[in-house]
Amino acid sequence: MDETARLRRLYGRLASLGYGGDYNPEQWGPEVHAEDAELMREAGVNLVTLGIFSWAKTEPAPGAYDFTWLDGHLDRLAEAGVAVGLATMTASPPPWLTRLHPSVLPVTEDGVRLHPGSRQHWCPSSPVHRTHAVRLAERLATRYGTHPALALWHIGNEYGCHISRHCHCEVSTAAFRGWLRQRYGTVAELNDAWSTDFWSQRYGTFEEIHTPRKAPSFRNPAQQLDYWRFSSDELLACYLAEKEVLTRITPDVPVTTNFVPLAKTLDLFAWAPHLDVIAYDSYPDPHDESAPHRTAFSYDVMRGLKDGRPWLLLEQAPGAVNWRERNGRKPPGRMRLDSWQAVAHGADSVLFFQWRQSRGGAEKFHSAMVPHGGRETRIFREVRELGAELASYPDLLGSRPERADAALLLDWPSWWALELDAHPSADVRLLDAALAHHKPLYDASVACDVVSAKTDLAALTRYRLLLIPNLYSVTNETAERICTYVRTGGTVVMSYFSGITDEHDRVHLGGYPAPFRALLGLRVEEFDPRPDGTWTEEIHLEGAQAVTSSPEGAPTVTRHTYGEGTAWYLSTRPAPKEMRALLDRVRAECGVRPTLPDLPEGVRARTRVTAAGDRLHVVLNEGDLSVEVRRESR
Ligand code: GLA
Repeated sequence: MDETARLRRLYGRLASLGYGGDYNPEQWGPEVHAEDAELMREAGVNLVTLGIFSWAKTEPAPGAYDFTWLDGHLDRLAEAGVAVGLATMTASPPPWLTRLHPSVLPVTEDGVRLHPGSRQHWCPSSPVHRTHAVRLAERLATRYGTHPALALWHIGNEYGCHISRHCHCEVSTAAFRGWLRQRYGTVAELNDAWSTDFWSQRYGTFEEIHTPRKAPSFRNPAQQLDYWRFSSDELLACYLAEKEVLTRITPDVPVTTNFVPLAKTLDLFAWAPHLDVIAYDSYPDPHDESAPHRTAFSYDVMRGLKDGRPWLLLEQAPGAVNWRERNGRKPPGRMRLDSWQAVAHGADSVLFFQWRQSRGGAEKFHSAMVPHGGRETRIFREVRELGAELASYPDLLGSRPERADAALLLDWPSWWALELDAHPSADVRLLDAALAHHKPLYDASVACDVVSAKTDLAALTRYRLLLIPNLYSVTNETAERICTYVRTGGTVVMSYFSGITDEHDRVHLGGYPAPFRALLGLRVEEFDPRPDGTWTEEIHLEGAQAVTSSPEGAPTVTRHTYGEGTAWYLSTRPAPKEMRALLDRVRAECGVRPTLPDLPEGVRARTRVTAAGDRLHVVLNEGDLSVEVRRESR
């Protein structure tokens, strides 16, 4: 059974977009449960995530399972017509597991073993954790596989949130060595890839290799890069071990896990094929003016993970969170706007952390759909209104986000490599670059997809414009594909410090950026980042035209006709206003237009296309004033 068939189990249970949140009934007694049922009905809840942190309650002693408490909740939810994303409960191991098997606890890079008492305190390579986790997943699948409430499996929780690249124990070290053996075959190959003749690091055997633990100075960059890859793969292996047992026992139930906001830790393009539907947790800071844009970008990334398919917003906060230094509330209306923003960018559900605000524990000051104050609160009133509003657009369910004409290229391994230490500047950060390229499109209400560096040529050529922010590390094959994309008519906007190293962080020789020199029509001789964080470089034009130059006459933006297409190059980061003007010009040249014409300042629109082919525009007013927007098609 493939993912489309499995997803029917979820979508078949929903009459409109999914609406609800994390439901943690184990924190409450029967009276509250009765009220939950009533309030969920009032709020229009149709989907909840159940059991995320319920391992200790469900398996109170090794191998002794107690499902009775869960049976009742699932039955009640089924009766109320609420679909359930049932968690495999493995994100937070119970105290007995780490008491009996302290080796499960992760070890930091300086050798400190972390303690239980929080959550995610497990080593991703631990066979003990994996065996116990899979056993629990198997029990859950066997018991609830045919339960009418079960619509979706939710494996673990936010992989890599607390423990990515966070284990340097002996078990992890052995696993890292095994992973390297698989990747390189021989230690000679590894020595070559890791440039170990530098600083006398040549290895005689795999047994001499460690995870990049705390060391006197810079650690080998290729080793660090491989450790990022290994950590992402190792967590994926944990997820897959559980998934394997779930799909064997319940082949008709879709499987997902929730990704952390704009996380660097996991290579999400490598993970995505293993999720039936992408799921995401979004926590914009209501006091950060850049948050709506960052959030929009993150949603574009989520949509890009499965080539434009809708995804699930699995968590957001109805009001304040509790984990920033100062946790401001969302002002009235903000939650509604945030929710529609997610839908506009492709979300098929609007779920919250969590349904009912906890009374005790570390998250008691985190907002919830039902606040401590209960039904007579502003938040619950807004929750009720939003539920009714989402339910009144049933056509959105089954609609697909309209494909954009522009895309931004993102690659996790290059992101990891870009931000390694001992570089020309510590100020070059991928997210800053990606957001700076995406913002002018967002401000102009131009839709932008996100694509992986591995996207094939046919898929790339669907786009008129490709933004390539700081693609520092690139394989020859990818570079060649990008060049062909332009040669055959595409337009790229590429930023500095792209095409510098290969997949092992070895410099592409032949003048920077060697794989893109012909494409861009220039050569970079030296990098010269300034103390204020500005990046500059010395460029020699080899066919490109300078579009703008610095006061000293150095080209800052260049344009080069390459075959049928055009390659723009930014040798520095223009100020936001200049970036907008530049991208407006580039867009005009290659015909990339806003979703709707003439939208007032602060108003953004995205389009979803229904199964019947109708275009639905979701129009978001992010400004402070009321505006009227006329409906016109593109
Ligand atoms: C994450 C977790 C939740 C909760 C929220 C709080 O998203 O998945 O369990 O801790 O953060 O914001």
